[in-house]
Amino acid sequence: MIEISNVTHRFGNKRGAAAPANVLENVSFTIADGEFVSFLGPSGCGKTTMLRIIDGIILPSMGNVTIDGTHVRGPAPSRSMVFQEFNLLPWRSAEKNAEFGLELEIQKTKRADRERIAEENLSKLGLKSFGGYFPHQLSGGMKQRVGIARALSTAPKYLLMDEPFGALDPMIRELMQIELLKLLSADNRTIVFVTHSIDEAIFLSDRIFVFGARPGRILDIVPVDLPKPRWVDDEKIKASAPFVAYRQRIWRLMKDELQRGMQHAD
Ligand SMILES: Nc1ncnc2c1ncn2[C@@H]1O[C@H](COP(=O)(O)OP(=O)(O)OP(=O)(O)O)[C@@H](O)[C@H]1O
Ligand SMILES: [Mg+2]
Repeated sequence: MIEISNVTHRFGNKRGAAAPANVLENVSFTIADGEFVSFLGPSGCGKTTMLRIIDGIILPSMGNVTIDGTHVRGPAPSRSMVFQEFNLLPWRSAEKNAEFGLELEIQKTKRADRERIAEENLSKLGLKSFGGYFPHQLSGGMKQRVGIARALSTAPKYLLMDEPFGALDPMIRELMQIELLKLLSADNRTIVFVTHSIDEAIFLSDRIFVFGARPGRILDIVPVDLPKPRWVDDEKIKASAPFVAYRQRIWRLMKDELQRGMQHAD
């Protein structure tokens, strides 16, 4: 379980600059094991920062982050990130990229096991015969799948995904959403997923945390009560009255927040 209480964060003072503002202010929530939660909100509202705080790469200025009862002081193998950019190492093949997490000191794994795990994960993601390809030989969707295979290599309990499908074309993106849900259905992982897409958040999530900006904070938490598994009848679900109602409710919240932000920008 992820427990965030009263987290406030500001980045360090730059020389000569005005005192930095809070990027996140007084954010509190809990995420239960096995939940799929999305962070949705305007650019710059602190979604990536919040994800990094959960991962332990950033320690918050104030407040508490507890995961499975333990205070977070840094990254741990139970948590893996899929990055906003693909972040693959261009000089490594797909298979070698997918092994990467297993070479790190905290999760050092024998070579044969690394290769087997990378192969299994690539195969689960439909890239069985692409292990030898280098990133420049792969399409955007394939690169993102290698990024997911890499994150899965350490069998993390928590998968933290920062706009993983943001760079994909809209059709591939919808297919990837379906593939992700299928992939995740095999394990009881907890997912925290950042997106700018309202429809993507509704389709994937158990709950959506809608963020507002300046300072970053949670405006509302929307539980999504749609039938599961959602990849079965995905078209029907997306056209259903409850789906459309969620979209309207969330868009209203976001629109008010964006308009407020534009007034401030003047
Ligand atoms: N390392 C850093 N040093 C200083 N400021 C930072 C740093 N990282 C982020 N910020 C600032 O913190 C705020 C929140 O950034 P963050 O990346 O968390 O936003 P976001 O919601 O993920 O945005 P986007 O949707 O565009 O990815 C922004 O104003 C950004 O400029
Ligand atoms: Mg971001």
